[in-house]
Amino acid sequence: MRVKNVNIGILGLGTVGGGVVNVLTRNQAEITRRSGKNITITHAAVRDINQDRICSTDDISLTQDPFEIVNNNDIDVVLELVGGTGLAKDLVEQAIKNGKHVITANKALIAIHGNELLELAKANNTHLLFEAAVAGGIPILKSLEQGLSANQVELVAGIINGTGNFILTEMRDKGRDFDDVLKEAQALGYAEADPTFDVEGIDAAHKLAILGSIAFGCKLQFDNISTEGISQISGEDVAFATELGYSIKHLGIAKKIDNKVQMRVHPTLIPKTSLLANVDGVMNAVLVKGNAVGPTLYYGAGAGDEATASAVIADLIDIIKDTVSHDILGWQNFEDCPACDTNDIESVFYLRLLATDKPGVLADITAIFANHSISVEAVVQKQIDSKNNAHIAIITNMIKTSELNEAVAEIQKNDFIQEDVKIIHIETLD
Ligand code: HSE
Repeated sequence: MRVKNVNIGILGLGTVGGGVVNVLTRNQAEITRRSGKNITITHAAVRDINQDRICSTDDISLTQDPFEIVNNNDIDVVLELVGGTGLAKDLVEQAIKNGKHVITANKALIAIHGNELLELAKANNTHLLFEAAVAGGIPILKSLEQGLSANQVELVAGIINGTGNFILTEMRDKGRDFDDVLKEAQALGYAEADPTFDVEGIDAAHKLAILGSIAFGCKLQFDNISTEGISQISGEDVAFATELGYSIKHLGIAKKIDNKVQMRVHPTLIPKTSLLANVDGVMNAVLVKGNAVGPTLYYGAGAGDEATASAVIADLIDIIKDTVSHDILGWQNFEDCPACDTNDIESVFYLRLLATDKPGVLADITAIFANHSISVEAVVQKQIDSKNNAHIAIITNMIKTSELNEAVAEIQKNDFIQEDVKIIHIETLD
């Protein structure tokens, strides 16, 4: 049987683009067997033609004009690997309008502009796939859409930013400072070009927007995600968490309760014996609970040239075999799901307080909790420091966020409180 060629144009031949070239070359026989077609990267758009690369470009026609690729009639599938939401969006739109299938690793582009781009793809009868945008090499979108398709998803909770996880792991295991570990993560190439995307939770929120959408069949709603990063986590929080039997992880959490979608990204205390608490360093993991299957866990590299290339090429094979699952097939039935008000979210909370050491302080704090019907489940107090301050950690019962905020605001007004009360969610993930 004659094997037809599929021509690929790559926009961006950096880490992920180079990884795609290398994996397609090394695993060519396997990929041809699985896809039934010869895949050829015919063109690539690069910023600088003479730059050193991690892959060979011997058989690839290089250009500095990416529009040459999206307008090239001989190219069947475009891989958008430049990132960002400006030029990348124009290129993706143009490629789709020219009838090309597009695969992207660009989480910001899909999280922010995905609804309109998927509509455009639907109107032009092309595919727009983005498995690589979430958790790098972990096939989490395919797992949700294919392997778990019989389930109503109850919970998605993931460590979906490797840089943040690396920083928290180093702080916990080696007692290192936040800034010091961030510098190392940047030097190792884990962090985004703008590291605030990693440490302030924006990168994780982009990924959670996509996860929540696919998990619940809802249109993308990045703007409804409540987002908090890890930059305010101190060594003291890490030490208190450990003492109380928890590990602090930066989680993206999506739940659908009473038809309302709840999506939040924030540092979270989770029991240190839980599987997610033991996902360390730069690794990612996503826990999905389905109402039929129960809890399932997916673990792997969330970034890196070949791990991300693995997801890009899997999308390519899906397009070639017409086994696509996560774009227009499901998309046309996706709904506008109402978002849960953040104040209504119920959670157990960890609070850290710095209070002057004088008789009655703890009694005053617990009286305020009692007035708000908040029960204290655990309290730890460190030795009084040289400034006569007590360092106190408190764990509450399960309460509404609005109730907790009211109580904390009242506590905060007291002269004996020396700094802002730190609030961190606790999740048992049961
Ligand atoms: N900066 C991201 C991370 C890379 O640290 O996970 C992958 O999206």
